[in-house]
Amino acid sequence: MKSLKSIKNWTLTKSLKNNNFSFKRNYVLRFVPSLLLTNAFKSISSWKNYKATPLLKLDKLQKHLKVNNIFYKDESKRFHLKSFKALGGAYAVEKISKGKKNIISQYVSDTRVKEIKKFGAEVIRVKGDYENSLNECKKLSKKNNWKIVQDVSTKEYKLVPQLTMAGYSIMIKEISKQTNQYITHIFLQAGVGGMAAGVVTGVAKYFKRIPKIIIVEPDRADCVLQSIKHNKLKKIKIKKESIMGGMSCNEMSYIPWQILKKTSNCCVSVSDRNIAKTVAMLKDKKLSKNSIIGGECSAPGIMSLVGVCNNTKIKKIIELNENSNVLVIGCEGNADVKLYKQLLSKGRK
Ligand SMILES: Cc1ncc(COP(=O)(O)O)c(C=O)c1O
Repeated sequence: MKSLKSIKNWTLTKSLKNNNFSFKRNYVLRFVPSLLLTNAFKSISSWKNYKATPLLKLDKLQKHLKVNNIFYKDESKRFHLKSFKALGGAYAVEKISKGKKNIISQYVSDTRVKEIKKFGAEVIRVKGDYENSLNECKKLSKKNNWKIVQDVSTKEYKLVPQLTMAGYSIMIKEISKQTNQYITHIFLQAGVGGMAAGVVTGVAKYFKRIPKIIIVEPDRADCVLQSIKHNKLKKIKIKKESIMGGMSCNEMSYIPWQILKKTSNCCVSVSDRNIAKTVAMLKDKKLSKNSIIGGECSAPGIMSLVGVCNNTKIKKIIELNENSNVLVIGCEGNADVKLYKQLLSKGRK
């Protein structure tokens, strides 16, 4: 595989400054109240095997890009789930229900289904995409009187998504104890926006200074960027699924929209092109002295940071420079083992 020099050609597909930006802590915590965040931390930190995930440094990349620090929150070490999702979904399930049915779309890989089944769940695969599976879930739940635990909020369905976001905020609580450097920029991957908004609630509660928030999406599924551009919740058409499967969503969740429309400084999108290379670079210590296991949804945060650094205009807009302390979220490890192996071997070529 090529050296770090090869990243000089990495580009963003789109970038958009949010003209309605106005970060107010009180506004954010109206949607996910501070007490919910406190309770989430109390609960989750009391779980067996709880441990803060490592806050690593991409020291080689930071030197190459000439920024002060690049921190990488390594969620591959989150419990045995190898994903930040353990914080939100599992917490919401604990609070709400003991249900064991999972309804997932036709595009979810067999490896992921296998992993979910390991937890004792019955999995129902629905023909179609993420939205189809949500609709089927609603239908079946109504019919069978099941409780739905899913992270997509609507005007009528708020509590579970709030709990999920409160769970995600723990990443920021941990980071506030792991470094005394002020984070100046956070790159946040988004599907329906739950993780990004959850992190933002954590920022509102736990960080002394508010960093710049940059939302990262696959260019084939840029529903946050489009919503911010049009200043209204926008449903988009996904013509082809991105390899960043978990982020391949066509419409934002309601509460994340309320939060992110005010708190994100900028939205960017990237193609699938450099995912495999980034996965391999993480693993092969090209970006840091540690070898890092980061899956397909961990790569785009790094790719976007590189894309911004290669774009003078957007770099200036978000004031990214040699004093910046950047945070990227390594959302997951090799949660999908088969896909991870494929990406690794492709990225090493
Ligand atoms: C595996 C995975 N699924 C989904 C998402 C998107 O989360 P959300 O739909 O809450 O925005 C991410 C990261 O953004 C991810 O890493």
